[in-house]
Amino acid sequence: MRLIRVISLFAIIRGAHAKQNCPLYGLGYPNPTNLLAQAGIQTVRTLLDSAFTENIDNANQTGSERFSYSVEVFSADEEEPLWSHHWTAPNLKTLNSTGVSEVDGDTVYRLGSVTKIFTILTFLAEAGDSMWNEPITKYIPEIKALVTTGVDNSHSISTPDWDAITIGALASQMSGLARDSSIGFPILGKEEIPPCGNRPVCTRTQFFEGISKLSPSFSSFATPAYSDIGYTLLALALEQMTGKYFGTMVQDKIIKPLGLNHTFYTTPKDSLGIIPGGRYLTNWAFNMGNESPTGNMYTSPSDLSRLGRAILRSSLLPPAMTRRWLKPVTFSSDPRSAVGMPWGVRQLPLSNDSPYQFATTFNKAGSLGKYSVFFAVIPDFNIGFSILAAGDVPAGLATSIADSLSNTYLPTIVNTARIQANQVYGGTYKNSDAAVNSSLSIVVDRQAPGLSLSSWISNGTNMMWYSVALSQNVTRDYWNKIRPSTRLYPTGLWDATSDGGKRVAFKAVFEDLSLASISQPFTTDCSTWVTVSGIMYGSKPLDQFIFNINAAGNVTSVENGALRNRLDKVV
Ligand SMILES: *[C@@H]1O[C@H](CO)[C@@H](O)[C@H](O)[C@H]1NC(C)=O
Ligand SMILES: *[C@@H]1O[C@H](CO)[C@@H](O)[C@H](O)[C@H]1NC(C)=O
Ligand SMILES: *[C@@H]1O[C@H](CO)[C@@H](O)[C@H](O)[C@H]1NC(C)=O
Ligand SMILES: *[C@@H]1O[C@H](CO)[C@@H](O)[C@H](O)[C@H]1NC(C)=O
Ligand SMILES: *[C@@H]1O[C@H](CO)[C@@H](O)[C@H](O)[C@H]1NC(C)=O
Ligand SMILES: *[C@@H]1O[C@H](CO)[C@@H](O)[C@H](O)[C@H]1NC(C)=O
Ligand SMILES: *[C@@H]1O[C@H](CO)[C@@H](O)[C@H](O)[C@H]1NC(C)=O
Repeated sequence: MRLIRVISLFAIIRGAHAKQNCPLYGLGYPNPTNLLAQAGIQTVRTLLDSAFTENIDNANQTGSERFSYSVEVFSADEEEPLWSHHWTAPNLKTLNSTGVSEVDGDTVYRLGSVTKIFTILTFLAEAGDSMWNEPITKYIPEIKALVTTGVDNSHSISTPDWDAITIGALASQMSGLARDSSIGFPILGKEEIPPCGNRPVCTRTQFFEGISKLSPSFSSFATPAYSDIGYTLLALALEQMTGKYFGTMVQDKIIKPLGLNHTFYTTPKDSLGIIPGGRYLTNWAFNMGNESPTGNMYTSPSDLSRLGRAILRSSLLPPAMTRRWLKPVTFSSDPRSAVGMPWGVRQLPLSNDSPYQFATTFNKAGSLGKYSVFFAVIPDFNIGFSILAAGDVPAGLATSIADSLSNTYLPTIVNTARIQANQVYGGTYKNSDAAVNSSLSIVVDRQAPGLSLSSWISNGTNMMWYSVALSQNVTRDYWNKIRPSTRLYPTGLWDATSDGGKRVAFKAVFEDLSLASISQPFTTDCSTWVTVSGIMYGSKPLDQFIFNINAAGNVTSVENGALRNRLDKVV
């Protein structure tokens, strides 16, 4: 009885929905280029100008008379922001501020925990990521001294298992250490008024004294748990590795090479910043000393966008290291979100119909005193946002601005990417010898990801059906039921050619959309990555398509690896 129910349930699921295309992760379209010139991007600019003015700046209930903010949307493909917006709180005039009287792209804000992005990038640029799995006891003598040989602390409630806490655990918030140490450390985000100017922050000795009394929240690598202490330790470990002061490394490895003239490790001149009140009252001038790598830094909207472009372009790191960095380290409780270094990672849906089409964003929020900041990079589309606010900033302002930007920009960018991909790759390709019945046609449609093959014939064989049949080993009578879908995704691989053009490789995914949409414990209709290069012929994969592009940037022909043929573009 039970079995029959399961079987009939199975039948219902099979009949219920058609299968959705399952793209390769993170490779939907070639990155769109020349964005500022695109009509869609220009429309969004105008729309956002009025939406922000009406709904935030001049709206009655937003409290906008008491906060200033700056927003930039940037692309790695453009030096100019795609959009920027600045609002100065009307009440700034009444605050006797020692800072700027009006905010713009060069105005310096405090970053709070967005500093952690600079901290990780400094670490990667100085030392790389090869020691992620090394224990911190190797690099921090004071921590080494806390380890008693022969005592098993692997599950101790009171004593962290220091030898099991790695450099990578600190970077990815997987150390299990507490959030903040008990002495002297200001709780970030609280509007706590420091009792004096540079109030006494912990010395190194005091910091480790605090650490020695600290019990762990969890074992390392059990669950992500945000820890500011972890980032202080990370920087101390780097200082030990390099023998250099952390602030100097930030300056030499990031600020100088990127020309970030409005970015500071310690408090800059008041005249550069937005200071909505007293310079201590707002926390503008509060110096976190030893604990600076976790939240002390300052930057401007334009510099934050420069940083974002440098991350996306991998200007400071080898590209493979950036690709490793822009990946999650662990899941979190929300299935659509994960945790990286120091990123919050989220999957942003790109389709109402398909759970398999999304962009991944790597973001970080920060707040300190009167400052609130949000930063995101979306490598799938080579864009990002920087949002900085100062004053009586409503809780959630920065994230709701980020929500609006992603709701506006993602559909626009996907659309732009489709239009451009269609212009470059769309059309019909044929064998130069008309007697040979070989051709294919490419279109980019709105429903599904990647470039679609609308027909594909090789020497009289209908490859649309044949490729699916080969991948699935179907019987002859199933042949007519197949709904073949062949879609091409960019691989990021290309070679320059001697005539100034290039060869660009795409990967095809062969799918049968007549199959059921299915999501069971282990049975899934989306595991494309497992089948990549599944069909080989003479050591060349059938799913490899290489486009030849001339020096003028126009596609001239396409080659298939396994079929060893070249089809010239005719339309
Ligand atoms: C905002 O407040 C002003 C002054 O109280 C009022 O005249 C105006 O109608 C209000 N605007 C909106 C959109 O509620
Ligand atoms: C600003 O300065 C004026 C003149 O010194 C003073 O009357 C006023 O109270 C000050 N305002 C604030 C917010 O400190
Ligand atoms: C920063 O300042 C240096 C020296 O004045 C200048 O060469 C550089 O262009 C500036 N960087 C930016 C991004 O403006
Ligand atoms: C096409 O197929 C025919 C018949 O199988 C074969 O003789 C011919 O060599 C093939 N042509 C090419 C270009 O592969
Ligand atoms: C080319 O091959 C396809 C697929 O087998 C076939 O439908 C079509 O009629 C052929 N065209 C010519 C001109 O032979
Ligand atoms: C394909 O299926 C047939 C029967 O349907 C079977 O005999 C054959 O071994 C299968 N081939 C592969 C490679 O799985
Ligand atoms: C490239 O393509 C564009 C648009 O189709 C066309 O206007 C241009 O003449 C082409 N250039 C070359 C060198 O083929």
